[in-house]
Amino acid sequence: MSKHAERDVILGHEDEADGIQEYDNPLPDWWVGLFWLTILFAIGYAVHYHFIADRSYPKALAQELADAEARWPTPGAASGGEAEFAVTAEAASAGATVYQQNCASCHGANLTGGIGPSLVDAEWIHGGTPEAIRNTITNGVIERGMLAWGPILGAERITQVTAYVVQQNADALGLPFPPEHDEEGEADHDEGGDARS
Ligand code: HEC
Repeated sequence: MSKHAERDVILGHEDEADGIQEYDNPLPDWWVGLFWLTILFAIGYAVHYHFIADRSYPKALAQELADAEARWPTPGAASGGEAEFAVTAEAASAGATVYQQNCASCHGANLTGGIGPSLVDAEWIHGGTPEAIRNTITNGVIERGMLAWGPILGAERITQVTAYVVQQNADALGLPFPPEHDEEGEADHDEGGDARS
């Protein structure tokens, strides 16, 4: 009751407030109710988010990256990207142009070396598997003057020039080309052989 008695009392500082008058009434119940509801919602949401649904931004980001990886695989990436990175004669012949334009100045028109080492001998500083060669070309050896070609050429031309290097190396050393690899085919959903009972 006393609450009601105090309602609608003007605080009386309009002279300091450009003539604006002010009550000091309690907030309406519906407003206070909403206020408490938002707090309860926040608590419930936080509990649900962290403990029941077990969500988190790092997880959501990881999931998004995984989805992107599945949709646009990085050739040669650790996660199953190898299927995408195929050393084929076709890629190699496209890679010849890429090589002559970007690499011949250091590795020689015949890959026999110059400023950079020969790519047609059996010696590899950074590994001689197609994946290792691709990594060297992609990431470079900056301190030795070999650029990181990945961002310059892009994945497709990197694959092509890698195939070319692998092919030329195989030709020079009498190795089989394309290098032996267990062919998995390119079908993602290879379930044809499944017998159902
Ligand atoms: C500016 C000169 C230069 C250019 C241009 C260049 N390279 Fe190199 N490359 C080098 C040097 C120097 C090394 C040796 C790095 C070391 O000693 O670790 C090297 C190393 C390599 C290796 C590793 C060799 C090994 O023994 O492991 C590969 C593969 C390679 N280059 C491929 C390429 C390809 C493909 C291109 C063109 C896209 C290219 N390089 C362009 C200078 C160059």
